[in-house]
Amino acid sequence: MKPLIVANWKMNPLTIEVAQRLTKTVKIGLRGIKDIEVILCPPFTSLSIVKKELKGSGIKLGAQNLFWKELGAYTGEISARMLKDVGCDYVIIGHSERRHLLGETNGMVNLKLKTASKAGLKPILCIGETIEERQEDKAQEVITYELISGLKDISGLALSLLSIAYEPIWAIGSGRTADPDEIMTAQLLIKKILTGLYSSITAQKIRILYGGSVMGTNAYEFTKVVGMDGLLVGGASLNATEFVNIVKALTK
Ligand code: PGA
Repeated sequence: MKPLIVANWKMNPLTIEVAQRLTKTVKIGLRGIKDIEVILCPPFTSLSIVKKELKGSGIKLGAQNLFWKELGAYTGEISARMLKDVGCDYVIIGHSERRHLLGETNGMVNLKLKTASKAGLKPILCIGETIEERQEDKAQEVITYELISGLKDISGLALSLLSIAYEPIWAIGSGRTADPDEIMTAQLLIKKILTGLYSSITAQKIRILYGGSVMGTNAYEFTKVVGMDGLLVGGASLNATEFVNIVKALTK
């Protein structure tokens, strides 16, 4: 299984021109890197230009969200088919910023996961606890609930496309990362839940990523030492040099 490094640009950069420049620099920086799957997830307005810029590079395109209906009167939403049409292979689903700032529920996450896989998009399901939940010793409960409800009635092909990102919310954009022990505990819990829901073979095939203040200096530890199957990178992915360093850390 190739490690997966996902750049989540969130609502950045401001212009299509900067997005194109960032893509170009990342593409040049990662030239010749094989055996690592790299995905750029720009905002919707830059998907098309980033796709064009990535042509022939091996780097793939992802979106940050989608809606579960195919087309119609859903103002402000975007469908899986539209994302496929613009050239996306991946889509981030259930990011904590969507859950907590925009009220996305586990039920919505579940619908989005089903829709993405049906359209052949590979979903990256984000789960993770808030600081309060962690302090109340509820991290494991939250991970379990988000995973079980997010994956309700999902099986077969959909599972083969899935990756899961464990992102403790207090580590996102804070410069604080979870301890290796905490990440390992979350990883084992996720694997245990997947084994219970499906089978150990299926659980082994689903990549489990870590996200939350990932940088060039800690990427090696999370992947090579802790054993995560990849990384979901926010802030640091907007700096081409830093992002390239993160990917290169996995080649050591
Ligand atoms: P961060 O964001 O790397 O800026 O902490 C990660 C994420 O939100 O996916």
